[in-house]
Amino acid sequence: MLQGKRIIIGISGGIAAYKSLILIRLFKKAGAEVRVVTTENALWFVTRVSLESLSQNKIYDKVFGPENDYTTEHISLTDWADCFVVAPATANIIGKLANGIADDALSTSLIAFDKKIFIAPAMNVKMFDHFAVQRNLSYLKEMDIAIVEPASGYLACGYEGKGRMEEPEEIFLRVEQYFNSPKDQLKGKKILVTAGPTHEPIDPVRFIGNHSTGKMGFAIAGELASRGAEVTLIAGPVSIAAPAGEINRIDVTTADEMYHAAMDAFPQMDAGILTAAVSDFKPAKPASQKIKKTDATPEIQLVLNPDILGSLGKMKKEGQVLVGFALETDNEIENARKKLDGKNLDFIVLNSLNDEGAGFGGDNNKVTLIDNKNQISGFELKSKQQVAVDVVNKLSEML
Ligand code: CTP
Repeated sequence: MLQGKRIIIGISGGIAAYKSLILIRLFKKAGAEVRVVTTENALWFVTRVSLESLSQNKIYDKVFGPENDYTTEHISLTDWADCFVVAPATANIIGKLANGIADDALSTSLIAFDKKIFIAPAMNVKMFDHFAVQRNLSYLKEMDIAIVEPASGYLACGYEGKGRMEEPEEIFLRVEQYFNSPKDQLKGKKILVTAGPTHEPIDPVRFIGNHSTGKMGFAIAGELASRGAEVTLIAGPVSIAAPAGEINRIDVTTADEMYHAAMDAFPQMDAGILTAAVSDFKPAKPASQKIKKTDATPEIQLVLNPDILGSLGKMKKEGQVLVGFALETDNEIENARKKLDGKNLDFIVLNSLNDEGAGFGGDNNKVTLIDNKNQISGFELKSKQQVAVDVVNKLSEML
């Protein structure tokens, strides 16, 4: 699907630049045309000769100068390309793009580019976690720029943590998916997604909650929107940015609030994908004042929360598709199948806590999809974005 596609690879000055050589190779092998734009500093890490040999094109690294034939190359180049991939993206180039700064060949080309941009950040974990970098990345996400999240692990500076550029194969896959993604496949379909945890108040300052971050549900909502669906996203308390696209987001805190929002929305929907980690229990009588330390240890009585997925399963009409998630630790397939039948689902996404690197908080997940005809498909450990693609593919088939 990348045959004949025109891709700009932007390289900024980071040690991960050596991986961009592999990325160029992957695109060339897939039949794409590649032009490379670099910052001056990128050329400390990779040489002009390597980049030009692999891309089979002159690189663009200076806005002015004798090598440049005085055409406005950042305009002709950006008109030419179908997509722009910045890998590695340093804190500096991310900051420039988010703030409209154009002071070298790469930043100027980015500002002149009006099609899809992918950013693969690479930097030290302290820099990646810096509030300015995080703010810039969330702004870019809002602007529909695809961020290929860095992986965690050993960093060139000796630190361990998040900041290592994602592998070229994964970046390549994300771009390929973008071109393959059927943009109007779900046009006109209304789809409900629940995501994140719920918080159940104990008193005005304390709650019962869980470790869910909402990443899986948000990735699904983003993937649905990118295929033209009208998404209603009911989100529990999460701290991640809303995915791009046409998304009606409803923020809730407790399971009761999520239940009412979902019950109101579902009758108008073609499908529902319930990823939220809903608290099964809530304190029976939350205290109206903060509970003080006393000699007696307080006891909190818990009562059951409504089962949102089960309730939607009961009200489901002909033609509506309902999808649930299951997190199991033992007898996984059998337990997931019971949930599928018991809650009247069309398919269920089974996460296993036994799979290393999968589950709460992280960026990856390993799932098995089980449908109501007992077809079972197991998938590799993948990024949550990739898992979202698999889940939405299955939903599209069923719709
Ligand atoms: N779910 C829900 N409302 C609840 C509890 C769960 O909508 N009160 C949904 C979740 O969003 C998920 C699915 O149900 O899609 C499975 O959640 P899980 O907690 O694994 O299932 P439970 O039915 O709560 O069963 P158990 O905890 O006994 O495994």
